Amino acid sequence: MMDQDIAYIMYTEQQLHERENELGKLLTKEYANRRPIFIGILRGVVVFYADMVRRIPIPCDFDFMSVTSYAGTTSSGRVKIDLDTRYDLLGRDVVILEDILDTGRTLKSVHDLLLQRHPASLKICALLDKPERRISDIEADWVGFTIPNEFVVGYGLDFNDSYRNLPYVGVLKPEIYEK
Ligand code: PRP
Repeated sequence: MMDQDIAYIMYTEQQLHERENELGKLLTKEYANRRPIFIGILRGVVVFYADMVRRIPIPCDFDFMSVTSYAGTTSSGRVKIDLDTRYDLLGRDVVILEDILDTGRTLKSVHDLLLQRHPASLKICALLDKPERRISDIEADWVGFTIPNEFVVGYGLDFNDSYRNLPYVGVLKPEIYEK
């Protein structure tokens, strides 16, 4: 089973839900009467996205992007859009949802790209933040947990496309990613 590859659980499902409840209240307050667009950056965000939208009980629009980021020579990096948003963002209140802010290349690129579409507001909510790894100049407006530089999987996060469906955030055993 996948559990055998996990060194330890960093956040249990209950801990994740409790923090999501807090974030949900903050976002509900911020966006009441504004019909925000929640843009999830596929695929890692799927679990967090489904949790968050159910904790923000206000009218909203669901949208998604899928991007591939490349390590570039500039700090902003580069990003290829594999799936773009379906809504026009002009004048809208937009919230980008992400599972993890790591080097920041992905979110920096997506954020800058979406700003060019002139939303009324553009904010970022990330479940996990790994500031030690940051290369690009980008921060989230809301963060679930700030974490050390450990190899985390589960709750949407993968290693070689596995472990996304673990119901917790766990640290992968080094022998798994070193072999
Ligand atoms: C992961 C994660 C973020 C990004 C964070 O996505 O979901 O989008 O990396 O890393 P960064 O801050 O260093 O850019 P990935 O590209 O692995 O795709 P996935 O969501 O499909 O797993």
